[in-house]
Amino acid sequence: MKVAVVGAGYVGLVTATCLAELGHEVVCVDSDPRKIELLKSGVVPIHEPGLEPMVQRNSQDSRLHFTSRLRDALESAEVLFIAVGTPPQEDGSADLSHVLAVARQVGQQMSRPLVVVNKSTVPVGTAEQVETEIRSALAERDREALPFAVVSNPEFLKEGAAIDDFMRPDRIVIGLGDGAMAGQARDAMTRLYASLNRHHERTVWMDLRSAELSKYAANAMLAARISFMNEVANLADRVGADVDAVRRGIGSDSRIGPSFLYAGTGYGGSCFPKDTRALMQTAMHHGSQMHLVEATERVNQTQRQILARRVKDLFGPNLAGRTFALWGLAFKPQTDDMREAPSRALIRQLVLHGARVQAHDPIAMEAARTVLAEDLADVDPQLQRVHFMADAASVLQGADALLVVTEWKQFQNPDFEAIRDTLRQPLVLDGRNLYDPLHLQRLGLAYLGIGRRNALAAQIASRLRTAVAADGSTAPTPAMVHA
Ligand SMILES: NC(=O)c1ccc[n+]([C@@H]2O[C@H](COP(=O)([O-])OP(=O)(O)OC[C@H]3O[C@@H](n4cnc5c(N)ncnc54)[C@H](O)[C@@H]3O)[C@@H](O)[C@H]2O)c1
Repeated sequence: MKVAVVGAGYVGLVTATCLAELGHEVVCVDSDPRKIELLKSGVVPIHEPGLEPMVQRNSQDSRLHFTSRLRDALESAEVLFIAVGTPPQEDGSADLSHVLAVARQVGQQMSRPLVVVNKSTVPVGTAEQVETEIRSALAERDREALPFAVVSNPEFLKEGAAIDDFMRPDRIVIGLGDGAMAGQARDAMTRLYASLNRHHERTVWMDLRSAELSKYAANAMLAARISFMNEVANLADRVGADVDAVRRGIGSDSRIGPSFLYAGTGYGGSCFPKDTRALMQTAMHHGSQMHLVEATERVNQTQRQILARRVKDLFGPNLAGRTFALWGLAFKPQTDDMREAPSRALIRQLVLHGARVQAHDPIAMEAARTVLAEDLADVDPQLQRVHFMADAASVLQGADALLVVTEWKQFQNPDFEAIRDTLRQPLVLDGRNLYDPLHLQRLGLAYLGIGRRNALAAQIASRLRTAVAADGSTAPTPAMVHA
């Protein structure tokens, strides 16, 4: 089939490339000419495992083309995907200006029947708005008779595993309207995804509004699981339980399942924070309230500060002269996406209180440099107190503690003895519960995970606190900490 995909970001580029891989002929459009130039030369401007070779292969085979002119893509397209951003507005509601701008351009330029598929995450009722926008632009050209249908096909891919999620989806949600072209739209979507449904039917057909709400409900549910476990972790800290044992204890229940039960420094990224807020706004606009989603968001806001709070608990509010080693900057592994990454809130707090930061991330350092310069515009715009280091070992040099922020594989089995011997004091604050507390303690490292503060760790932390308080200028030695 001939397909146009508007938006060459995480979702648009993956959609375009995977549809080309399935044999369709795809033109991918983006309004950013720099992005298009890179893509034309085979360079993928984002980090997504496996994507670049797939882009190159399909471009060489002439199934995947890039352009900044929508008109080029509309010439032959039977199906057009809208996959542009829907960033949060000040009040948390989704900014639909990009989506509606694309809809208007489509109405202004389309010249043949078209199925318009909304893949962006959009509030309930957006399909109707897209339809109105296209219809009014067609009317301005006296082309009201040109048939089109609007379909909702929300995307559930995860950054870092996007290709696999697209090619082997748990389900494909498709919402259809009841207009004159609904039958053709259903046929087109059936043909488009036929190869993904070969082994078993994954498509869940529904009406437009239900499809739009499904996306938000899915993200809110996943975010709620994370916030729930973070609350359990905080209680575990108080009662001397280990949240990791609790996670395994409840995740093995088939009614609960093991996914998204990891306590940590809170969720981030381009989806959960924005989609939970947008869902609350939708509820409010319809005279309703989503108490669980509100609590999910509140818990997350507090949880994002947990590492900064612990640092201040241990070292006091004045962090001048202190240096902290950070492992991980991206909001999760396998991506360079820094949108709403918990590392940003942490770094801001550390720098605001006078500390230096030495950070390493396997791939997100360039992206981090840009966003942190903005985040710290009022305190350290030149990033003189944030140092990006080429490897995980060098961030430890001269640092007062190691803070683990992103659970990259590279950080999962480090040389703990080298960590102990390099840090100014043997302290690991693990924001992702990567390590075994007892193993680290046996090696002489004070270890604080999230919800894993067993009695021994609490004792070590309290000794460290006392040692620091006794002489703030002198870093406690391992002997002091483990005395
Ligand atoms: N990133 C994810 O993991 C993910 C997962 C599921 C759903 N979504 C949703 O998918 C949508 C896109 O997200 P993303 O992360 O890919 O965004 P993104 O910001 O990475 O990419 C959006 C792209 O659209 C382009 N664009 C904006 N306006 C345009 C226009 N008028 N014409 C052509 N191009 C235009 C931008 O230049 C940009 O390249 C959002 O609604 C998001 O919530 C994202």
